[in-house]
Amino acid sequence: MLFYSLLFFTFLLRFVFVLSTIDSIDGDHPKCSTIGCLGKRIGPRILGRRIESNVPEVIYRILEEPVSKDEVLGKTDVPQTLQEFMSEMKQSRSDAKAFALRLREMIVLLEQRTRTAKIQEYLYRHVASSSIPKQLHCLALKLANEHSNNAAARLQLPSAELVPALVDNSYFHFVLASDNVLAASVVATSLVKNALRPEKFVLHIITDRKTYSPMQAWFSLHPLDPAIIEVKALHQFDWLSKGKVPVLEAMEKDQRVRSQFRGGSSAIVANNTEKPQVIAAKLQALSPKYNSLMNHIRIHLPELFPSLNKVVFLDDDIVIQTDLSPLWDIDMNGKVNGAVETCRGEDSFVMSKRFKSYLNFSHPLIARNFDPNECAWAYGMNIFDLEAWRKTNISLTYYHWLEENFKSDLSLWQLGTLPPGLIAFYGHVHVIDPFWHMLGLGYQDNTTLADAETAGVIHFNGRAKPWLDIAFPQLRPLWAKYIDFSDKFIKGCHIRAS
Ligand SMILES: *[C@@H]1O[C@H](CO)[C@@H](O)[C@H](O)[C@H]1NC(C)=O
Ligand SMILES: *[C@@H]1O[C@H](CO)[C@@H](O)[C@H](O)[C@H]1NC(C)=O
Ligand SMILES: *[C@@H]1O[C@H](CO)[C@@H](O)[C@H](O)[C@H]1NC(C)=O
Ligand SMILES: *[C@@H]1O[C@H](CO)[C@@H](O)[C@H](O)[C@H]1NC(C)=O
Repeated sequence: MLFYSLLFFTFLLRFVFVLSTIDSIDGDHPKCSTIGCLGKRIGPRILGRRIESNVPEVIYRILEEPVSKDEVLGKTDVPQTLQEFMSEMKQSRSDAKAFALRLREMIVLLEQRTRTAKIQEYLYRHVASSSIPKQLHCLALKLANEHSNNAAARLQLPSAELVPALVDNSYFHFVLASDNVLAASVVATSLVKNALRPEKFVLHIITDRKTYSPMQAWFSLHPLDPAIIEVKALHQFDWLSKGKVPVLEAMEKDQRVRSQFRGGSSAIVANNTEKPQVIAAKLQALSPKYNSLMNHIRIHLPELFPSLNKVVFLDDDIVIQTDLSPLWDIDMNGKVNGAVETCRGEDSFVMSKRFKSYLNFSHPLIARNFDPNECAWAYGMNIFDLEAWRKTNISLTYYHWLEENFKSDLSLWQLGTLPPGLIAFYGHVHVIDPFWHMLGLGYQDNTTLADAETAGVIHFNGRAKPWLDIAFPQLRPLWAKYIDFSDKFIKGCHIRAS
């Protein structure tokens, strides 16, 4: 804000300066020394009541000429500050034309700088939300170390006598895919602490190869008995280790396409007719964050859990505040995906998402197949009826559309796994009560603490993740209350309550 106010103020100053200089170059009015005097002279003109102009026509003409892209490119003598400009003008006693030309160069230079600064700010926000804070890094390292030095940190999870429960459909099965130990611990703790019958809860934590040992160490040393926790790395799933796996192929391809996306990052930045936030969004699309196996994995739930009939899939940026077993009582009417809708609701800012918010309806392929006003739904807390899912072609459809998007140079959608999800689950969604999933706590802070407390599950979707510095401070306690800040690992890595 401060940055923009300053920038705006600078522009304003320049504007006032330009008008007053134009006046004094041309006319022989006494110099204005007060803002009030300036205002009297400039005011009517700004308001459009142009009293007979005394600005030379040539100035208007030059300032109105279309600016060529390379106007200031390679010119090193463009004045950088107001002072430089003024002293140059005084020294050379330029005519109105030279004055206008110089002025234009300066403005163009300034506009270019503002643009760059804006792009950088957008990217900075992106980096702030996708880089791993050093405390989390520390936690993973400490736990990995514990894993290699302490047998108690290498327990089989769950213990052998509980293994049959993993495939027993009389239990409540939850799936969490995460490479963030702290986030996973909050989800697991909040799930179990609020359960009425925790002994019937099974949480399957799926992680990647590098996070496996820290994750196993954490849950070995912090058991959530009587709930059953399974920690498994992706490479340990039979299904993924045998034969061709579409998700891996798709990711490889995604990487390749993204690296060439619209000519690569330098070509994206070079386009100076595009708005800064569009450029930043295109650069973001190149980020590996949107191509994580963890993000795509939910499309394979039926294959990953071949003996289960129903699971609830949880994102790692949520907090559970109620008993979730009633989710199994919801009649899904034969649908596959129980989700909250995101187009209706009290919060008109968060609840305004329709298909057109995610998919490019200027593209004929999208326009031909979908309704732009179809209500969107949310990932984060979904009931998946795997039995019903296995009777459909949802995963095929998903990959078909990923392929279409690659073919058309990512012009169907650019970011994330929700857009292909919206397409693949089209017609297979059962809408559940918004109580089960309150969204938006990571991208707007006008949800009050009291409101957030009434929801069954809260979701910090958006940039301001609760484990980052940029988290909204008034909402963070809802997450932080599930962390034991006296724990030796938490303390040792300086993870603090606020
Ligand atoms: C720059 O972006 C505009 C707007 O999207 C587009 O029309 C134009 O073709 C782009 N120019 C280049 C050189 O990529
Ligand atoms: C799934 O796809 C196969 C082959 O494309 C097709 O024969 C079958 O009818 C589809 N099933 C459903 C439920 O759409
Ligand atoms: C949307 O699709 C149109 C038509 O193919 C394409 O020109 C445009 O660049 C796409 N928009 C984005 C943001 O990719
Ligand atoms: C919530 O906050 C966002 C920005 O943080 C704002 O644009 C939006 O209008 C707000 N919504 C309401 C209902 O106040």
